[in-house]
This record gives sequence, C-alpha cells and structure tokens, in this order.
Amino acid sequence: MPSAESGVPRAAAERHAALAAQLRRHDIAYYVHDAPELSDGAYDALRRELEELEAAHPALRTPDSPSQRVGAPVQTSFATVRHAEPMLSLANAFDEQEFLDFDARLRKRLDGPAAYVCEPKLDGLAVSLRYEQGLLVQAATRGDGEAGEDVTPNVRTIRNLPLRLEGAGWPEWCEVRGEVVMTHADFAALNRRAEAEGSKVFANPRNAAAGSLRQIDPRVTAQRPLRFYAYGLGGSSAAPANSQQALLRCFADWGFALAAHIEPAADAQACIAQYQALQRARPELPFDIDGLVAKLDDFALRERAGEVARAPRWAIAYKFAAEQASTVVEAIEWQVGRTGALTPVARLRPVSVGGVTVSNATLHNIDEIRRKDVRVGDTVIVQRAGDVIPEVVRPEVALRPEGAPEPREPSHCPECGSAVRRVEDQAALRCPAGLDCRAQRAQGLIHFVSRKAMDIDGLGEKLIHALLDADLVHSPADLYGLGADTLQDLERMAEKSAQNLVEAIDRSRQTTLPRFLFALGIREVGEVTARQLAQYFGDLDALLAADPEALERVPDVGPVVARQVANFFAAERNRAVIDALREAGVTWPAMPAHAAVDSPVAGKTVVLTGALEALTREQAAERLAALGAKVAGSVSGKTDLLIAGAKAGSKRAKAESLGVEIWDEAQLLALLQGAEAAGAPDGAGAGDEDGAG
Ligand code: IVH
Repeated sequence: MPSAESGVPRAAAERHAALAAQLRRHDIAYYVHDAPELSDGAYDALRRELEELEAAHPALRTPDSPSQRVGAPVQTSFATVRHAEPMLSLANAFDEQEFLDFDARLRKRLDGPAAYVCEPKLDGLAVSLRYEQGLLVQAATRGDGEAGEDVTPNVRTIRNLPLRLEGAGWPEWCEVRGEVVMTHADFAALNRRAEAEGSKVFANPRNAAAGSLRQIDPRVTAQRPLRFYAYGLGGSSAAPANSQQALLRCFADWGFALAAHIEPAADAQACIAQYQALQRARPELPFDIDGLVAKLDDFALRERAGEVARAPRWAIAYKFAAEQASTVVEAIEWQVGRTGALTPVARLRPVSVGGVTVSNATLHNIDEIRRKDVRVGDTVIVQRAGDVIPEVVRPEVALRPEGAPEPREPSHCPECGSAVRRVEDQAALRCPAGLDCRAQRAQGLIHFVSRKAMDIDGLGEKLIHALLDADLVHSPADLYGLGADTLQDLERMAEKSAQNLVEAIDRSRQTTLPRFLFALGIREVGEVTARQLAQYFGDLDALLAADPEALERVPDVGPVVARQVANFFAAERNRAVIDALREAGVTWPAMPAHAAVDSPVAGKTVVLTGALEALTREQAAERLAALGAKVAGSVSGKTDLLIAGAKAGSKRAKAESLGVEIWDEAQLLALLQGAEAAGAPDGAGAGDEDGAG
C-alpha cells in the first residue's frame, strides 16, 4: 500500500488493497487451480473498480497490481539480465539403457541409493523470475545460461503466476525457474485467429509461446494465453527447502502452478515406470511434453553430485522418441492403387523420424493438400505415430521458395492416361480403366501374392513389374503357368532361386477360402471381411450365388460392402479370373460354414424340392448353406436330407425309396428360426478373430 506521503487518501488506498487482494485470490483460483470462484461479470466489476481507483490515484498503480497484467507500453529492445546462478541445461537419455547408466553413475558417485522426483519435461521455454520481498521484480529468458533477456513486462501478463508471492516463508529474494508454455487449445485458437486476420501462424505451441513472450509490445503478449509452471530455484537469500518435493510444496504455497504428473520415485525402476505412465498420459495432456526429467530429490546429495559441462550430474531428461521431423518435399506424385484410386504422395528428402527413415508421406487427397497448403519445395513437418503411414503435418510457410505453385489434380491417370473420374461426393479421384490400367494390374498382383493373401514368397514388386513389362502375366492365374526357365531369363536370377519361386507359386495352390477371397482384391473386402464371408457361406459357389440381400446377413457386412461384393462377382472378367485360378489348381479345404457347429444340417447334403411358401428355394438354399449344409440339386445315395414343399414329385419318391430323411417346410422353418434365435451364424464365430489370416 502506498505510504501516506504519496498523497493517496487512506480510504482509496485501503479499498485498492482489498480489491487487489481479491483479484489476486481469484486469479489463483482461476488460473492456477482451474477452479473459478467468481463469475466473469463479478470479476470484471472488481477489476474495473481497481482500474478506476488507479486512474484517479496513479500512485496506486504499483508493479504488482493486478492491473499490470494487461501489458506495459512498447519497448524498443530487451535489456540483458545476468542470472544470479547460471541456468543450466540437462543431459539427455534417449533409451532405457542410457537412463540406467545415468543412475548407475550417480549412485556410484554418491556411494549410496538415489531417490528421485520425476517431472514431465515441458516443451516451452525456460524463464527465471526474480522476487524481492515477495514481489516479482524481474523476469528473464534463459539466453546463454549466464544472461538472458529482460522480458518482465511480458511475463507480468501471464495470468497463472503470482506478481506477489502468497503464503509465508519465502526468502528475502529468490529466482524461481520454470517453463512458459501454451496449451494445444490456446495454440489452435491463436492460429485460427491469425489465419483469419491473415497474420503469421505459428508452427507449434512452443514457437507460439516463445514468439509471444518476446513480443516487443506487452499488450500483444497479454492477448496470448501463456502459462508458467515452476520447477526449480535459481538462487536465493536463504534456502526455503532441502529437497525437490519440499521446494515444490513451497512453490504451491506461494501461488505457483505446478505441472500435473509430478511423482516421487524411490529408484531408477520407479522412474522407468513413471516414464511409461507419462508416455501413456501424453496424448491427453493439455500441452506438449517431450520426455521426463528425473531429479535427485535431496539437495544435500545434489551438492555432492555436482555438475559437468553446464549440466547437473543429479538430473537427466529421459526423452520420448521424436515422432516428428522436418524435411523437404521434393515432389508430389499421384499413385494409382489396386482399385484405381489416385492418392497424392509427397516424396520427401529422407529423414529419420522416431528412428525410422521416412522418404514418402501420404497426402490423402486434393482437399487435404489444399487444407494443409503443401507445395513442392516446401519444408514440412512430418509425423509418424506407431505403425501408421507417415503424414505431412504442415508446411513451414515462412521457408517456402518464392513462386512455388499450388499442386493441381491430374486430369488423366499418370499410369495409363485414362481420363480420371471423381468418386461421387468425395475428394477421391479414380482411374476407371480397372485391369486395363497397368498400375492397377501391378497393384492387384502385388496384393494377390502378399503374405496375408496367397503368400507367395520371393515374388516381389520388381519381379511383378518385370513380368508385366514382358507381357508374361496379365491376370493372377498366369502366375501358375510360369516355368523356372522363363523366370531365370527374365530376372537373370540364379537357377536355384527361380526354382524356389516356382515351388513357392506351386505351394500357394493349396490355400484357404478366406485367403483366396482376400487375394481377389474385392473393394471393401479386407482380411476380416474375407474370413466372415468364407465362414458364413462355407464355399465359394454359395458365395458366388449370393445376392446383396443375402450378403448383408453376413456379420459386419453392410449395404456398401454387400454391393461391392455382388458387383465384383457379377463382372465377367472377375468370373473368368476365378475360373482360371481354379483351373490352374488353386484349391482349399472344404470349410464347414462356421455357424454350423451346432446345426443339425452341418456337413449334410441337402436337397430341396417342391414349392415352399415362406421363402423361395434359392433363399432356403442360401440359409441352409449358411448353416453348413451342402445344397445339392438331385437326390442320390449321398443325400442326407430332402426338404419337400408342396407338390413334391419324383425327388420325394426317390428319397423315400433310398430311405433318406424327409422334412416338410415347417421343419425347415423351425430349423432356420432356431438358428436365428441362437444368433448363428455370427454367434458361433465371434471368438476367433485371430484364428485365420
Ligand atoms: S530442470 C538444472 N525441469 O529443459 C535443471 N527443466 O535442458 C534444469 N525443462 O532449459 C532445468 N521441463 O527449459 C527442468 N520439469 C523440468 C523441465 C525442464 C522442461 C526444460 C527447461 C530447460 C531444459 C533443460
């Protein structure tokens, strides 16, 4: 509170002090604890009253007043600030072994156990806050570690740090260190606004935080939602704590925010467990982190450990594998897939992302290219997460070469030259040429021989292209006519490898129905659907006969898939390929329709005759096939069951003479209804997702 000499009336000074205290308390509740106690309107009213008092009595406008968060006037440059103690950096561990080595070295040096505090490594920028008599007097960036830039007016605008320390027990002066970050949500909102205003967008939250903190105009910083999380003490007139855990408790008492996921860890194994937990929590965190910092908890032990090369020996940053990297787009090519879909692919200057070299990234479609605004020559951030195909996250627009044109959609298939078509209502383009397009033939063959399909070992992409170029193979069935001598000539391959390949092709003749169906490359039919179809119908002919309605009865098959399957089998060309493959000797063991496990007709040969009322004979045949029956056309010694509708004639007589069991329609319907109620066919097959393929 200003003293009496300042000329501020006592009542005004007292009211100002009360308002400032209330606003400070609410700032902490709101920004530090995320638990507001006041409505926005009530807060604004307090705030206005405070500002009015300060306008009337400028002496009340002290640097720690809540009004100072709005930002001071423009500065011309940043002054240099010497840190009381150097701001050190951290050594890195990039894998578990490196972390264990760090721990072993430390324990050896201490000649005893090492207990840690694990903190997330926040991906922002380090700042040092100097407090004197509890007041924030100076804030500085890390700079070269010895001295940084004075960013005090900007830091004052950060809402979750105390301009005046709360609680008690703080030393006469101290430097509180921590990280300034921007949350993902705030970053996205900021960039959206920047985009709308046509101003510069930031590449990532860290750049946004750094750019905001180094604003020459603190009023701009005040508009940027930055946060500060305390993690260490620079120097101080007296030690407020003798361990990291105790220090963090002091920070919390003084009104600082602490990052979530700070945990004590009794030893290295506990740190590793915490590292894994943090990695799992990472996607849900509101801001970026790039690893875990393990710090020796006990300050006396820290003294003993000392430091080396500007980094303490008592702490380490155990980093997550980088999943993003920056590289250059050398070309954008349109790839023709097995089904004719044209997909843009960015050819990249090879770069290591999380330990894997990446040289291509998918761009999905033209809308995606436009949305991300990716151009040839751009420096881009690429990302790989788990097993997914690498993708371009965004270009660094600032680094774009002058005149880089916007990529255009091709009007013709880059492989066969056919005019491309747009898939209804979609961003996707398609080459309509089907197997007349060489690229589609090649992709179809590559799929056909792949491990989860016909599994022909040794028949790689290069050889498939060579076979197509030499006109030796047009459809998959042609593979089965290849001899060792042909292959040898073609690829100049050793006699032995040619022989091995012929044997591998031969072995693939003996396959399974799910593999065969998957290998055909029917649109929308992946491994799982292929297996479902095989299990439901049991044999290929039943499947070939099925109409879309019947197909939709297969578990997980909806109208789209059903239509694709029916269309595929209706096409002359596909029927010819299937026939040729069967003629070439491709075969599979009979497959009892999966549903049939409990069905009384499973594995039985059934004949239908006479007129049925509730359903057609074709429908009855499908349903029976789905239950594992083999539906035959005529009665013979192999017939197990005759289902006879009205006006059954000679077939019934023959069945009677052979002693074949005969059912009427009612018995058939009872069977079908029973099967439906039991949830068959999917009920029986539910548990075996990983059984085949
Ligand atoms: S402790 C001597 N704790 O990492 C100890 N640093 O390479 C130095 N950082 O510049 C800092 N989160 O910007 C510490 N929980 C954390 C941290 C952290 C992020 C940054 C900090 C520093 C860099 C060290």
